[in-house]
Amino acid sequence: MFRLLVQRSVRSSRSILGNQVDQRQSHLTKTTRSRSLGLSSVLLEKNLSVTYELGSGERVTVKASEGENLLDVAINNDVDIDGFGACEGTLACSTCHLIFSPEDYKKIEDVVTDEELDMLDLAFGLTDTSRLGCQVCMTKALDGVVAKVPEGVNDQR
Ligand code: FES
Repeated sequence: MFRLLVQRSVRSSRSILGNQVDQRQSHLTKTTRSRSLGLSSVLLEKNLSVTYELGSGERVTVKASEGENLLDVAINNDVDIDGFGACEGTLACSTCHLIFSPEDYKKIEDVVTDEELDMLDLAFGLTDTSRLGCQVCMTKALDGVVAKVPEGVNDQR
C-alpha cells in the first residue's frame, strides 16, 4: 500500500513538472520560431510596408515580408532607433515597445502572452494599444501599419 502511494506521488510530481517544462518549451519554441522567421524572412518577398514613426516625429517607411516581426523589419531595413531590440527578441527587455492606432492594433493577429504583458508593464509610455515589436509578425492585414516608437526606452535587462 505504502509503495503504491509513493508511486502515485512520484507520478503526480512528474506530471506537474512535465506541465511546467512543456509550458516553458512552448514559450521558447515560439521565441525561437519568431527569431527563425525573422532571419529566413530576409529571403522572402517583401511586399508589405511598415511605417515607423520616430520620437522626433520623422516617419520611415520600409518594406517587410509576411511573417517577419516588427523588430526584424526595423533591423533588416536599418531603421535607426536608439536601443531598439536590446534583447534580440527574447522577451527580456521592453526596448522594442511600439504604439499602434486602435484600428491597426485590432489587426494584429499575434495574441499577447503573459510574458509579453509582464515586459510591457515595464515599458516607458505604455498605452492601451502598446505591443512589443518582437512579438508582432507582419500579415497582409497589417500592410501599411504605422508603428509609433515611444520617445523613451526602458531597458529592463
Ligand atoms: Fe527585447 Fe522585444 S526585443 S522584448
